[in-house]
Amino acid sequence: MTYLIFEPLHPDFGAIVSGMDLTAPLSQEDVKAFNDAVDTYSVLLFRNQDMTDEKQLRLTKAIGEPEAEHVAYGRTGEVVYFGSVGNIDDQGNQRKEAHDTTKYQKGNELWHSDSSFRQVPSYVSILHAYEVPGEGGATSFVSERAAYDRLTAAEKDQIDNLRGLHDYVFSRAKRAPVDDNHAASLPPVAHPLVKTNPGNGRKNLFIGSHVRSILGLSGIDSRALINDLLEKTTRPEDVYSHQWAAGDTVVWDNRCVLHKGNGFDADKWRRRLRQTRVVGSEVGQIPA
Ligand code: OGA
Ligand code: MN
Repeated sequence: MTYLIFEPLHPDFGAIVSGMDLTAPLSQEDVKAFNDAVDTYSVLLFRNQDMTDEKQLRLTKAIGEPEAEHVAYGRTGEVVYFGSVGNIDDQGNQRKEAHDTTKYQKGNELWHSDSSFRQVPSYVSILHAYEVPGEGGATSFVSERAAYDRLTAAEKDQIDNLRGLHDYVFSRAKRAPVDDNHAASLPPVAHPLVKTNPGNGRKNLFIGSHVRSILGLSGIDSRALINDLLEKTTRPEDVYSHQWAAGDTVVWDNRCVLHKGNGFDADKWRRRLRQTRVVGSEVGQIPA
């Protein structure tokens, strides 16, 4: 689509997009341009978006099926389409470092792909910034497509047909306890370690902190391979860290990028972002 303008964020991936107002209703042509941009750039930054929850939900529904936020759904069965990122509660109060929810969000500081632990992982996440700290609180991204491309032919051969077991409790219990109902709602699920984008045929790794083991490998061999791949994917030069400005909307392709939060002083600063996710189209397997 020629009417969008892209400025690169990182040599491997990512673009600042201008020429599209995400807060207005999108035409079919806009939706196609958006999806094409996701396929090409993996991370899209739209600046100065005059966003509200209502407009963000309309945008999310224009792109696909909104995903029920898994924490609320897992704990209580309630379907909500927004996740709050940062330290501000629904009444606008600041949660300090000692608050359970602040601690829980530290799980986001491990490299991950949103909802990779679900049987149907997310296609994209859409995150809009309302309040940002004066220091810290960036979100970092890496391309699992570029990481796959950097592997040797022998390394690719070794992993092409393997599957990773993604387990939310495995990854997140390292940072804060996971509620029993929530844990029970998310049985570990197997996804291929290498995925192919259906639009452009590009291959990518599909890894991250939620991967507990590799099917068919011992625990020791699993961890050695997972850690090796993660290290090769997240070298400092591979990372784009986004320092948020209020009004930024960032969209990322969970099929082929990893991201993580970088922490900030929740006692000192207010940070409030709102997130929606679009359900993907690939179905993992829950081992019997
Ligand atoms: C997310 C996420 C990390 C952050 O929104 O999915 O992982 O920047 N965010 O706090
Ligand atoms: Mn996340």
